[in-house]
Amino acid sequence: MGFLNLSLLLLSAFLVNVPVVRAAAGTLQQVSNFGKNPTGVQMFVYRPARLASPPPLIVAMHYCTGTAQAYFTGTNYANLADQKGFIVIYPDAPDSGGCWDVHSDATLKHDAGGDSLAIAEMVRYAITTYGVDKTRVFATGTSSGAMMTNVLMGAYPDLFAAGSAWAGVPFGCFAGPSMWQSQCANGQLTKTAQAWGDQARNGYPGYTGARPKFQTWHGSADTTLYPQNFFEQIKQWTNVLGVSATPTSNSTNTPVSGYWRANFGSQFQANYGNGVTHNIPVRADDVLAWFGLSNLTPGGGGGETPPTNPGGGTCAALYGQCGGSGWAGPTCCTSGTCKSSNQWYSQCLP
Ligand SMILES: *[C@@H]1O[C@H](CO)[C@@H](O)[C@H](O)[C@H]1NC(C)=O
Repeated sequence: MGFLNLSLLLLSAFLVNVPVVRAAAGTLQQVSNFGKNPTGVQMFVYRPARLASPPPLIVAMHYCTGTAQAYFTGTNYANLADQKGFIVIYPDAPDSGGCWDVHSDATLKHDAGGDSLAIAEMVRYAITTYGVDKTRVFATGTSSGAMMTNVLMGAYPDLFAAGSAWAGVPFGCFAGPSMWQSQCANGQLTKTAQAWGDQARNGYPGYTGARPKFQTWHGSADTTLYPQNFFEQIKQWTNVLGVSATPTSNSTNTPVSGYWRANFGSQFQANYGNGVTHNIPVRADDVLAWFGLSNLTPGGGGGETPPTNPGGGTCAALYGQCGGSGWAGPTCCTSGTCKSSNQWYSQCLP
C-alpha cells in the first residue's frame, strides 16, 4: 500500500470517531478590564461578523492543560457562531496546570470570588457591552471546563439559561484545599441526591429564580474522571430541578451509535457513551440543539454591523423608501424600521 493510500486510510479512520472541526472566519480577541477578576482569569471573545439580534452567548471552557485558543480551534462553536450569529466567550484559566478552580469556597459561592466570579463578570460585561440577550446565555466545557459548567449552574443560576458538561464532576465534588480531588476523580465520592442538591443550592443561598436546564455527557471508559461522577450528577441535578431520578425516556444509540440518552423531563438530560474515554468528542451541534440555537440565524446585526439588504446592495437611510408595489430598491433600513404608508410606498421611520 502506498503512503498516500495509507494516510487516507488513517485519515478516514480518524474521521469516523472525531467530528470535523471547521475553522472560524475571524479570530479570537482578548478583552481586559471586563470586571472583577480576583484570580486573574483571561477573557477571549469570538464575535462573528454577522450577529443574531440580539445575539445569544455561549461560554466555552477548556480542559486542564488547555487554553482559550485550544478550545477555540478544537471545537466547532466559533464556526457555528459564523453560521448562526451568537457570540462565544472562551475564558482562559490562570492556574499553572491550566485547570479551573472548582474547589475553593469562593468559587463555589455566588459573587464570592474565585475563577467563577471572573466568568460571571465576563457574562455581565457581554450583556452590557455587546447587547447579548441575557435570557440566552449558556455554559459548556470539557473535563475541568465541564466541572466549571457544574459550578456555574449552582453558583450563578441567575445568569445561565442552560448548561452542557462534557466529562465533568458534580458541583462541589472537588471542594477542599487543592486543585485536584482524587477521591472525586476516581468516582469514590458519592452522596445522596439530597446532599448533592443542598450543596448546589448552597452555591447561591436564598436564590428562588428559575434554574438553568442542564445536560451532561460522559464516557463509560473514562479513567480520568470515573463514570460514577456522571451518575452523581444525575442525582444532584434531578434533585435541584425537582424532578424524578427515573428517566421519562431513554433511547439507545442516541444521538449517535453507542450512546444512550436519558431525559428526566425537559430540563435535565444525561448522555452516556459506551466505550468512550475521557477524550470524549464534543458534539457542538447537539449542544446547540439543547440550547435551542439550532435554527438561529444572523440578522439585524444586533447593533454591531449594519443590516444588509436581502436583495443585495445597501439598505435605505432614515426616511428613505424601503418598499412598495413595483419597488426594486432596498427593502431594509440602515436606521429606523420599514413601515408601510400605503400599497405603493414604505418608508424607514424612527
Ligand atoms: C438507559 O438505557 C440503557 C440501555 O438499556 C441502560 O443501560 C441505562 O442504565 C439506562 N439509563 C437510565 C438512566 O436508566
